[in-house]
Amino acid sequence: MHRTIELTHVALEVIAGLKLSSKQISSKFFYDSEGSRIFQQIMRMPEYYLTDCEAEIFETHKRAIGSFFCNDCFTVDLVELGAGDGAKTKILIEDLISEKVNFRYIPVDISEDAVVQLAGAMKQKFPDLTLEPRIGDYFHMIENLSREYPNRKVIMFLGSNLGNFDHQQSISFLTGISQVMSDDDLFFIGLDLKKDPEVIRKAYDDSQGLTREFNLNLLTRFNRELGANFDLKGFMHAPLYDPQRGTAMSFLVSTRDQVVRFAVTDESISLKQWETIQTELSQKYDLAMIEALAEASGFQVVENFFDSRHYFVNSLWRKA
Ligand code: AVJ
Repeated sequence: MHRTIELTHVALEVIAGLKLSSKQISSKFFYDSEGSRIFQQIMRMPEYYLTDCEAEIFETHKRAIGSFFCNDCFTVDLVELGAGDGAKTKILIEDLISEKVNFRYIPVDISEDAVVQLAGAMKQKFPDLTLEPRIGDYFHMIENLSREYPNRKVIMFLGSNLGNFDHQQSISFLTGISQVMSDDDLFFIGLDLKKDPEVIRKAYDDSQGLTREFNLNLLTRFNRELGANFDLKGFMHAPLYDPQRGTAMSFLVSTRDQVVRFAVTDESISLKQWETIQTELSQKYDLAMIEALAEASGFQVVENFFDSRHYFVNSLWRKA
């Protein structure tokens, strides 16, 4: 019963986006179990440099980062929003364990599969780790954070996940976080920096076609879960990068006039030839934008950690 209500809710959100004059689908729908699996493969390919850069930052600066997280603290809760497979976080966890820091790790993700996998892998690698995985939309999760985790906490939002939000969404999300934080809590965010536009473009238009598969999987998911009848042959993956705004965007472009039906709500949408559906926004930042974001949402930048090429930054913030 509950399931049906939820499905209709999702269907309505998806269909509403497809009825707009500029069609769009929220990128949160990418992460069904197949989408999470494809994204893990994307993270492993060299063209998607973000993952390696963040891992390099953690390897290089783990002790400095770890001592910000807990310097003689009694205990600390590490809450990771959108943890995914948690691969890079292991580097920081390993450091905290070897420094005998008393901490709990609370990974939060929208994909049940990702969280279950992460929990299994972490338990195996760190048998004594106190692990409290949570499945859910992290937008809703932050509301309960201070009540459920009254200890000193570090909230982590890595991998340039913020890049999926537009400016207004970013400010309201970040403001929501600063409001649930105490004065000695920290926020640790990973952001992809502006760089050679060709490097960025290739990260979203890879030679193996994984990003294309990731994008088209949305339609497969809607066919299966919402009883839609998208014909994948009628759509192409079209990524682009705007170096002025620092915005990478992904589109599905309809290659012909077509009508798509959703069985769950018994509704149809139509697409004209070359009409677009925006499926993703991946914002790239410079340091001035990061300062401005922090300031506009009630934060103060404490320290920035870079990789050797300055492709990526992990920025540590406290409440202003
Ligand atoms: C997980 C949102 C950071 O935007 O770079 C990767 C997702 N999309 N390739 C990004 C993604 C296409 C990724 N984030």
